[in-house]
Amino acid sequence: MNYFNQLQTLLDASCAPYSGFNVASIVVLKDGRHFKGVNVESAAYPTTNCAERNAIQTAVTEGAKIGDLQEVHILARNAAKELVQAYPCGSCRQVIAEQALNDTVIYCYASEDKIDKHTIAELLPFGFLGAEL
Ligand code: THU
Repeated sequence: MNYFNQLQTLLDASCAPYSGFNVASIVVLKDGRHFKGVNVESAAYPTTNCAERNAIQTAVTEGAKIGDLQEVHILARNAAKELVQAYPCGSCRQVIAEQALNDTVIYCYASEDKIDKHTIAELLPFGFLGAEL
């Protein structure tokens, strides 16, 4: 399914007063439920939360279990209000990988019909996923 329209609307909920960079994410679970997230910035910069992790944390709060995460959709908009294609940051890749299966797909939208798709295993090869602990 194409989430472009929902993502575009969701961008307006992003709270990014410092960077002006809005990010919207929708995650889809194996059971078909989906959850939204936006980036929420903080004046204490490292306290900022990314859109993808906010969406995943909401999904977990609503009952998602490890392995339930099937798709992550991402759209971003820069300070000039132009849509830009963005990939998840390293911290988000880690969290996605830990909630995902190897075939979980990340959809990075440049526009409604230009979407890059990668599995989490492609975006985070040789990840540290906790089996070693
Ligand atoms: N950001 C995300 O929401 N997701 C990412 O994967 C990359 C970065 C946000 C964090 C910050 O509010 C803004 O984008 C600029 O880094």
